[in-house]
Amino acid sequence: MLSIPRVNQILKHPRFKEYSLYNNKAEEKRAFCHHGLDHGIAVARIAYIYLLEQQDTSLSKEVVYAAGLLHDLGRWQEYKTGEDHALVGAELVKPIIQDAGFNSTELETITQGIREHRLNPEGKMSLLGRALAYADDWARDCRNCLIKEACYKYTEQMNEIIC
Ligand SMILES: [Fe+2]
Ligand SMILES: [Fe+2]
Repeated sequence: MLSIPRVNQILKHPRFKEYSLYNNKAEEKRAFCHHGLDHGIAVARIAYIYLLEQQDTSLSKEVVYAAGLLHDLGRWQEYKTGEDHALVGAELVKPIIQDAGFNSTELETITQGIREHRLNPEGKMSLLGRALAYADDWARDCRNCLIKEACYKYTEQMNEIIC
């Protein structure tokens, strides 16, 4: 399947555009990695590859891509109020997921994955949460980052190509 219509609905959604703009503005002066559309697409693709490698086809490509694209959409709220963007973001994106045509089961799967994306992927969590948590780290090019030593996310292992 080359087309993923419900994911394209997400990209066109006014709230997706609005929150993406808030994120971009909030990170204008951020020295570390940004969380724009390129990061969302990278996480979606890597999470999907991870699931294919696990030979687990229980999640549709659209569900995985929706979660990847939406997982950091609440970041601007964290910059503003200090709330965890995984938790606040999972609530913010619900209308976008519904309007894009995902059913209630899919909505729950996607939002649970978003809530879990900052947790240790080795721990107990949903399949999508684990895929997002791994992909979130693997999507970063730490090797070429000049300020990696100052980054809270950086570990020695991130210099290795893992996926
Ligand atoms: Fe995040
Ligand atoms: Fe992320």
